[in-house]
Order: sequence, then C-alpha cells, then structure tokens
Amino acid sequence: MRRWSRTSVQLFLFLVVFSLLLLFSIVHDERALRTREASTAQPSFPTHFVTETFDGLDWSNACTTVRSYRGKSSPAAERRWQQKSREEGCDVFSGRWVYDNSSHPLYEEASCPYMSDQLACRKHGRPDEEYQRWRWQPHGCNLNKWNATEMLEKLRGKRLMFVGDSLNRGQWISMVCMVQSAIPDGKKSMTPNAALTIFRAEEYDATIEFYWAPLLVESNSDDPVNHRSNDRIIRPDALGKHAGQWEKADILVFNSYLWWRSGQKIKLLWKPDDDGICEEANGLDAMKLAMEAWADWVASTVNHLAQKVFFVTMSPTHLWSREWNPGSEGNCFQETNPINEEGYWGSGSDMHTMQMVGSILGRLQTKVVVLNITQLSEYRKDGHPSIYRKFWETHSPQQLANPVSYADCIHWCLPGVPDVWNELLFNSL
Ligand SMILES: *[C@@H]1O[C@H](CO)[C@@H](O)[C@H](O)[C@H]1NC(C)=O
Ligand SMILES: *[C@@H]1O[C@H](CO)[C@@H](O)[C@H](O)[C@H]1NC(C)=O
Ligand SMILES: *[C@@H]1O[C@H](CO)[C@@H](O)[C@H](O)[C@H]1NC(C)=O
Repeated sequence: MRRWSRTSVQLFLFLVVFSLLLLFSIVHDERALRTREASTAQPSFPTHFVTETFDGLDWSNACTTVRSYRGKSSPAAERRWQQKSREEGCDVFSGRWVYDNSSHPLYEEASCPYMSDQLACRKHGRPDEEYQRWRWQPHGCNLNKWNATEMLEKLRGKRLMFVGDSLNRGQWISMVCMVQSAIPDGKKSMTPNAALTIFRAEEYDATIEFYWAPLLVESNSDDPVNHRSNDRIIRPDALGKHAGQWEKADILVFNSYLWWRSGQKIKLLWKPDDDGICEEANGLDAMKLAMEAWADWVASTVNHLAQKVFFVTMSPTHLWSREWNPGSEGNCFQETNPINEEGYWGSGSDMHTMQMVGSILGRLQTKVVVLNITQLSEYRKDGHPSIYRKFWETHSPQQLANPVSYADCIHWCLPGVPDVWNELLFNSL
C-alpha cells in the first residue's frame, strides 16, 4: 500500500473537500430558475419501490434518530432479473484516442449559444486547444460519423432526456451544442423550468431535456439551486416523484456516481412518518440501494419497444498526477495530452462502484444500454477545465499562487470528451 505523508493526507482531504465544493457550485448559474414545480403525476407501475411522495417533506428535521445501516435492502434487491445475454460484435468502448483535427471539434465553443461558463475553457483563458481535437477510435470497428441532421431525424417527434448530476448536465449541453447549428434561428429554444430544462427543435417536434436528480432517488439534494448540504439524506426506495418527471421520455440517459463519493455517511430515510428514525450507510451501500430501486423501475416500467434507456458509467476524475506521472505532485492542471498507456486506471474510478453498477445493469440485460465511458475518459487527463472556467467563489492570493489547489479536474471542457460520449450515444440509437 502507498504510504502518505502528513501533508499529502492534508492535501488529499483539502482536494476532496474542494472538489465537492466545485461539484456543488456547478448549478449556481441556475439561480434564475427558482420556480419549483410540484409533481402531481402518480405513476402507475407496481410498487417494489415507493411511489408515494410526501409534499412539503421537511428534510432539515427528517432524521432525529440515527442508527447504522445493517444491510436491509429494498425489496427491489430480491427481485430476479434474467442473466444478461452474451454481447456480440465490436466493443466500441475499447479503443484509443487519435489526434484528428479534420474531424474534431464537432462545433466551435464560441458559436454555441447554450454553452455553460463552467465548461467554456478557451473563453476562460485555456491556452491550448488540442484537447478539442481527439477522435475516439474503437479497436475492432469504426464509429459512424457524427451527423447533426441525422441525429435530429432520429429524435423526430421524440423526447430525449438526460437525468442525473452536473456531469450528465455537461453531456446534455454537449448534445445541444452538437445539434443546434443544424437548426435555423427561431426554430429552436431553451426553456428552463426548475429541475427540468428543455431544449426544443421545433421543425423536428423534438426536445433534448435535462432533469436534475443527482442521486436518482429522492433526496435533500434535489433542489437544482439549493442543494448544498453536508448532511445528505436520501429516501432509498423513493422514485415516484422523479419518475413522474422522466417516465414519458422516449430516450433516457441516466448517470449517478460522484454524489455518492463524498466520503461522508449518507442517511437513509425509509419512511418519513417513522418518527424521524434514520439509518446511516456509506456511499457505496447507499448508491446500491438507489441503483436497485432505479433498476426495479426500469425492469417493471420501461416499455422496451417504445422507450430506450441508457446508463452512463462513472466519469473519472484526475486529482493526482502521481498516478500517471510518478513523483509529481499536481493534478490535471497544465495537462495537455491524453494518457497513452492502454488500460490505464486511476483512483478517480472506484472499482467497487463499477462492480456494483455492473452487476445491477447486468441483471437488466437488454433493457438498458450501457454507455461505458469510464475507461476511455480515464485516458483524458487533459480534458478537464482545470483553472479555465468560471468559478463562483473568489480565490485567495494563496490559492491563485498555487493553481493546482483550485483546478477543476472533475468536469470536462466543451468541445471535448462528452462530445464523444454523445457520438457513442448517436451510434447506439
Ligand atoms: C492539423 O494537424 C496537422 C498535423 O498535425 C497540421 O499540419 C495542420 O496544420 C493542422 N491543421 C489545423 C487547422 O490546425
Ligand atoms: C447527414 O444526414 C442527412 C440526413 O440523413 C443526409 O442527408 C446528409 O447527406 C448527411 N450529411 C453528411 C455530411 O453525411
Ligand atoms: C465498463 O468497462 C470496464 C472495462 O473498461 C469493465 O470492467 C466494467 O465492468 C464495465 N462496466 C459495465 C457496467 O459494463
């Protein structure tokens, strides 16, 4: 095992805390979207997970008594799914990055009116631009070339909805930027509506939407603006409120990962009327419960013929340059090239999480298409905003003197890595 010096440990803790702050700050630009829409939809699927919603649930007083989680799992865990059928054909997620300035970037950062200031790296001073010019080349086959018109044709008359956290939100912005140039002005619009933001392509009668649900199940982090909390509480089997928002979408793209990784315990509120008794679990156990409830929703509710469900695997972070460059003390700051080593794996991708997610998705067999972006994104230590984004907090002179201390090595610059996730999505539609 690696031995860490005291200062490394302090730096580690600092970076962990800091990274979380970054994560929390990403939606701060959505202050304008405060109107909160209460969900009235009562979904009609069987109740292995809980669909009842508690209007006006007071999260701040929810857990007055806390005991440790002893492994009771939601009923969903006991349900059986069939074994996944054998995968055939080319594994598009196994491959390499090829520098290709003729095909990439797929759009210009400055020409996308829906670009986010947290992802617009060149606008915020990033000096290099090679990070925009890499193409993903699978080993055994070629990807179909991206074509915005063709994508819009695939979406004609449909709702495509991204559901998840700020990483998923980045992928949604990427998708909007990738198609929007093919739509004339006046025929497209963006409607922010609390947790749900909708991009419309009128001539195609299509929408590309983003719904904020970083933990998939109901939680005290569901407010798209005010979700900062050190004391995270979830309702491990409660999907009704969120599912009411997403169940009518034709194509769903889910993710969930980083919000479970704070290192802090997560409180489990099984029943809001249980006199405030909560259990407390680690992030992995809590995420497993949420994934099981979600998987059960998919298994029991998704109409395989009419709906398509994708799950995007964990997005890696690059917080420790010593993992790819032994002896160094930095992070993704000033990285300008992908990692070349095939099969490289850093600590930003948690193996236990991957196995847990893999086994749950495996049981769902063909009901969910896995966009397994973890390995290919692991190579892209150069793809993060680092210090070149809008930050909401002001930095102290000490921080400014040491850019590594506040570099964002979690999110991804656009154009960049999430565009390729969307090319993979395009290829499997
Ligand atoms: C693209 O890359 C090639 C080879 O690296 C280089 O010669 C060319 O100038 C580049 N073109 C642009 C537009 O950057
Ligand atoms: C993109 O797709 C549209 C519609 O399928 C097609 O008409 C067009 O030729 C394609 N463009 C390219 C460059 O392949
Ligand atoms: C994703 O790919 C990795 C290999 O890169 C594999 O170990 C993992 O099980 C896959 N995850 C899923 C959910 O299929």
